Amino acid sequence: MANKVLVTAALTYANGPAHLGHLLEAIQTDVYARARKMSGDEVIFMWADDTHGTPIQVRARREGIEPEALIARAYEEHLATYRGFGVGFDIFYTTHSEENRKHAGAIFAALRARGDVEVRDVEQLYSEVDQMFLPDRLVKGTCPVCKTPDQYGDSCEACGSTYRPTELIEPYSTVSGDKPVLRTSEHLFVGLGRHEDFLREWLAPTDEGGRTILQDSVRKFVLDWVDKGLRDWDISREAPYFGIEIPGFPGKYFYVWFDAPIGYIAATDKWCQDNGQDVDSWWKAPAGRGDGEVEIVHVIGKDIVYFHCLFWPAMLHASGYTVPSRVQVHGWLKVNGEKMSKSRGTFILGKTFLEHVDPAYLRYYLAARLSNNQDDFDLGMDDFVNRVNADLVNKAANVASRSVKALAKLGGTLGALPEDAGELVAACTARLAEVPGLYANFESAQALRLAMEMAEDTNGYLNERAPWKLTKTEPELARSILSVGVYVSKLIAAVLKPVLPAWAEKVEALLKLDAPLTWANAAAPLPAGLELGEYQNLAVRLDPKQLDALIEASKQDVAADAALDGGGEGEAESFDYEVEALADEVGIEALDGVDLRVGKIVECEGVPKAKKLLRLTVDLGPLGRRNVFSGIAKSYAPEQLVGKHVVVFANLKPRKMRFGLSEGMIMAAGASDDAVTLLELDPRSLPGDKIS
Ligand code: MSP
Ligand code: ZN
Repeated sequence: MANKVLVTAALTYANGPAHLGHLLEAIQTDVYARARKMSGDEVIFMWADDTHGTPIQVRARREGIEPEALIARAYEEHLATYRGFGVGFDIFYTTHSEENRKHAGAIFAALRARGDVEVRDVEQLYSEVDQMFLPDRLVKGTCPVCKTPDQYGDSCEACGSTYRPTELIEPYSTVSGDKPVLRTSEHLFVGLGRHEDFLREWLAPTDEGGRTILQDSVRKFVLDWVDKGLRDWDISREAPYFGIEIPGFPGKYFYVWFDAPIGYIAATDKWCQDNGQDVDSWWKAPAGRGDGEVEIVHVIGKDIVYFHCLFWPAMLHASGYTVPSRVQVHGWLKVNGEKMSKSRGTFILGKTFLEHVDPAYLRYYLAARLSNNQDDFDLGMDDFVNRVNADLVNKAANVASRSVKALAKLGGTLGALPEDAGELVAACTARLAEVPGLYANFESAQALRLAMEMAEDTNGYLNERAPWKLTKTEPELARSILSVGVYVSKLIAAVLKPVLPAWAEKVEALLKLDAPLTWANAAAPLPAGLELGEYQNLAVRLDPKQLDALIEASKQDVAADAALDGGGEGEAESFDYEVEALADEVGIEALDGVDLRVGKIVECEGVPKAKKLLRLTVDLGPLGRRNVFSGIAKSYAPEQLVGKHVVVFANLKPRKMRFGLSEGMIMAAGASDDAVTLLELDPRSLPGDKIS
């Protein structure tokens, strides 16, 4: 009886493109799922985009589009990127779906029926300008503890204190700068403490055959949270909120973290509909490895452990869904020893990588260094090049290419393996036998190390026996020695297969295997007399120049994105990009000659044959209307601008342009054409008023 295994990676948040950090997780998950598929288990890899919540709303607003349009664009981008890296999910779905609404509703109803949901009044910061309650990350102010200004609503970066946004001194909205007011509204809370016994049981260390697998370090700090006392969880947000409206509570929406993991179930449901299966056979089954049981395996980063190891299992348990068997936590991806940095060009997007470097190399490098721990992962560019070339080109591909090329001179057919290769072959098959267990325990580095040892030993054996010198004098001896190289290449291909499926396919074709490589069939002998198929090159040397180009390109393409980012919910983004150096100090009189006024944009249109320009009609109140051409077309659509109050350099000498007269200038920030933001004034400002 095949085990049923459901594998997931965390659902990528739809407010931006996938970067190499996301790919670390995607590839780790993919390698795991593919390796388990090679065991003959019934394995599905369920994945989706996470599409709800404030950051998406804010970003859509900044771009002047609907959230639906934003998440549709992210979906296409994520899908293309992940496909480009060969991530073999069985479905890539979305949390903005009927299935998700259905399961979120069902889980909520079950929680309510048990009396787990409580309605309570909450006082929160509300911005009248933004017309919404401000979540922690959209409000800043002075830290109530150490008095450092400009701290987020949940914690202080200077002193580390945590607090409620209402405790901030002089809070302001990071969306509009508005000073928020206090407003009370009803929120729904789930009493997590009611599930403490279950959680302790779920978290408890178990022997083999036991249910939950957690890394010891993860278990330790999750238990620590439980010991400190489980706080009730606020699962509701007020309209306007982009998400799922809570049944029975009009105007209230599920907090994005409530419906996000339910997206795992929604994706499974959709996949089941498309594949004639019943979603309940996966999500309403006992957890485990036995008959009729299901293993659910989540791969996540260390920032989202609380959600996956406390809220999520408790919710599933309370509502009768299958609880996870394993939550596998990885560390943070760093580049060249540091946090990914926009200015250094090490904030690398998946799509940019695909334009410059073969994704197979990243798959290999990550898998060759990832193991079952939460350490941060340093992608060192030099090490990357060296490792890929040394392992894949010099070791693994070399075994196959030198053997096959020399055999070609002997008609390209295999012989029986020579007796003196017995020890080498036995050592290699013994290593192969360890590999499935290593992959199943997220020890891909060790698994791949074994493949490289096979290659090293076999290259050593071939060097010693030098069969290419024997092709003329003792062709049959040469054939049998070279057949060892071909046989071990098959074992190596099997080990590489979860990481480099295309490599394995080439070897399968070369050896004319009648079934794809699995753990069970990989060590089967190859028939003497087999006529080899065509040899396709397995690996090309990685040129460091490709990585230089990648870094250059990355510097370009993240600047544009940063300006539009709505911020991650719970994740602080770093914007360590470079800005122009400050000009020399001047006195206040330097401003004298410049007359800045409040202007209201009343009309706006594109300019034919000038892609960068927009033509604006700006109302300066008593000073009349102005015609202004502005180079902001790559950052704003015309319809986004009408109605905005902006800063106008009003006494600027008019300039005759090809398209007409430009009578002033709109002030804006941003270094590149596609990342400009206008200096916007509060709509209460009066057109024509002097700015000083
Ligand atoms: N949407 C939530 C997850 C919901 S799961 C029900 C989320 N999204 S995310 O896009 O911010 O991150 C997705 C995954 O990528 C998370 O597991 C996160 O830890 C991981 N990573 C994001 N940046 C990363 C690095 N720089 N390095 C490694 N992994 C990182 O969280
Ligand atoms: Zn502080």
